[in-house]
Amino acid sequence: MNRIAVLTSGGDAPGMNAAIRAVIRAGCDKEMKMFGVRDGYEGLIAGNLVRLRARDVGGVIHLGGTFLGSARSKEFKTPEGRARALRNLRELNIEALVIIGGNGSQMGAYELSKLGFPVVGIASTIDNDLYGSDVTLGVDTATNIALEAIDRLKVTASSHRRAVLVEVMGRKCGYLALICGIAGGAETIVIPEFEITPDDVAESMLDAFRRGKNHALVVVSEGAKSNATVLTQMLRQHQELSGFEVRTTILGHVQRGGVPSASDRILAARFGIAAIEQIAAGNHGILVGIHNGEMLYTPLAEVAANKKLLDLNLFQMAKTLAT
Ligand code: F6P
Repeated sequence: MNRIAVLTSGGDAPGMNAAIRAVIRAGCDKEMKMFGVRDGYEGLIAGNLVRLRARDVGGVIHLGGTFLGSARSKEFKTPEGRARALRNLRELNIEALVIIGGNGSQMGAYELSKLGFPVVGIASTIDNDLYGSDVTLGVDTATNIALEAIDRLKVTASSHRRAVLVEVMGRKCGYLALICGIAGGAETIVIPEFEITPDDVAESMLDAFRRGKNHALVVVSEGAKSNATVLTQMLRQHQELSGFEVRTTILGHVQRGGVPSASDRILAARFGIAAIEQIAAGNHGILVGIHNGEMLYTPLAEVAANKKLLDLNLFQMAKTLAT
């Protein structure tokens, strides 16, 4: 295969630019003609592709986001949208496509592969909820951004003997909240996989208050039923239940826009090179991920059919450390 395109899709993740760079340069190294697709699947449908050479991806390794642009394309979810995308790929004689993204994007990759087009996915989302990779590109940076905020919030909370409630992203996956909670020293972690009620949260805070702690940190996943909005309302109305006065911060997209960590840049390099090596070897219809430090190649059909489970031992670890 000689003409290869790359796109980024879904929520941007720090390290996507480094992954595009790795894909382009690994392809150039094999004397492939490389292309970038603008704005994810939207650009595929519009036929918006640009030729990318090694020099075109200079100066992007340290930048968050994706210089190619990304989108959550509704049209690509329709058979007509996918047919248009496929037509464009064929007209431009593109022979394989590398798709950098998370769950929704890899579902799209699977749909394209079912139509007979060679695709290779790269696992990338700050949610770390994609089957086929222990960690996904972007989650390390997002964790560190959230942690920096948490550390700062703890300082001011301690000065005022307050509770601080921090909501992190992650959709229906509690990974980010759990990891940030453990690394940030949270008293309580609220995640969708292990729902607890606002009363339970208040009780754990009161317990911390009675043990003489001068702050309480609650890390909440946005996907939990007791999210930051629900918890704040209850805790503000009933301070007697938790002991602490509470302040709330919803981190939101700030977690997505950061400078990629060293770890994410290295992961991007490994993923990008591996994706091109797989294409050169004639392998496709797979997701490039990592398992126990080694590259892992999982059929997209398997990725689409399975849900990544959260390691609930981590939850137990968090509880032990909160005493
Ligand atoms: O999937 C990544 C993610 O950042 C989720 O954590 C979050 O729920 C969602 O994207 C937000 O999507 P958008 O950027 O479209 O608002």
